[in-house]
Amino acid sequence: MYAKITLLPGDGIGPEVVAEGVKILNAIGEKFSHEFEFTSALAGGIAIDETGNPLPDESLEACRQCDAVLLGAVGGPKWSDPKANVRPEQGLLKLRKELGLFANIRPVKIYPALVDASTLKKEVVEQVDMVIVRELTGGIYFGQPQGRRDNDQGRAAVDTMYYTEAEIGRLMRVSFDLARQRRKKITSVDKANVLASSRLWREVAHEVAAEYPDVEYEDILVDACSMYLIRRPGDFDVIATGNMFGDILSDEASMLAGSMGMLPSASLAEGKFGLYEPIHGSAPDIAGLGVANPLATILSAAMMLRITFGLTQEADVIEQAVETILAEGYRTADLAIPGQDTVSTTQMGDLVVNFIKTGN
Ligand code: IPM
Ligand code: MG
Repeated sequence: MYAKITLLPGDGIGPEVVAEGVKILNAIGEKFSHEFEFTSALAGGIAIDETGNPLPDESLEACRQCDAVLLGAVGGPKWSDPKANVRPEQGLLKLRKELGLFANIRPVKIYPALVDASTLKKEVVEQVDMVIVRELTGGIYFGQPQGRRDNDQGRAAVDTMYYTEAEIGRLMRVSFDLARQRRKKITSVDKANVLASSRLWREVAHEVAAEYPDVEYEDILVDACSMYLIRRPGDFDVIATGNMFGDILSDEASMLAGSMGMLPSASLAEGKFGLYEPIHGSAPDIAGLGVANPLATILSAAMMLRITFGLTQEADVIEQAVETILAEGYRTADLAIPGQDTVSTTQMGDLVVNFIKTGN
């Protein structure tokens, strides 16, 4: 097949890990006779520095013209003054909204070789295999009014949690469809005991659940869910939730896997289009040192092959490569225990390329 991929390397370690993702996609292209054409565009802090805009129009246009987007990371201390008028994160939010990326898929899976990397007990984390499906273009991130409301009493500010039945319904359908390909269990997470938007969430979620009688369904309040994620994480299959709850719970769940350096994500629009990115940030402290773990980006590229391009076998090969390489003991610095030998960002990428070429 032939496909156009837009790269948004972004800030910090973003360019280094995206380069490894490209290397892996090219190796897959060669092995399975596909052609991937790459275009790079600016997003995040680097785009602010070069154009004053965290998501220049040309970058958005490049994303509209392609089949899938691979993003590194945006942000860093240089641009993080909360008083600044332009922030890298605005670029990311605009990208999500403009491209209609309403369903954010964040799988959390434990590699047998890494069970000891978590701060939790081995017996608790070795059962973990879940996917968080987070609504990404609505809720409190986008509801209006939003902003400063200073008045004669002093400073004040407002954000609004707003959901429509259409937004909730489509997110739940993506979640149920995914659950059908897995262990057929959905946990919908809300705060229905307090929030009106959560009561609507629950109402709509129940209606969609009735369309999927073969999938086991439960609702949990978000505070309880944050507790169960630590107490019995192995019980979760698909967690479906709103924008802010999903933001918080997915960081919590990522710690079950020990390192954020392993976790990929997909942000999907209606249809097949998607943006793929590692869940870790720009890690400015290690940027440019060649030590970042590229596996989350490489696994994001595998998700792209599987979801947007329907290339199951190709995605499987990448995932097997990662599992094998970890089992053989190769570690980037974030995964190593003190005293253990480490490989660099590019060496880790090369190991994956080699597996793709030779099957070991
Ligand atoms: C994430 C991040 C973003 C979010 C930030 C960088 C805007 O935390 O992708 O989870 O809150 O969605
Ligand atoms: Mg987050």
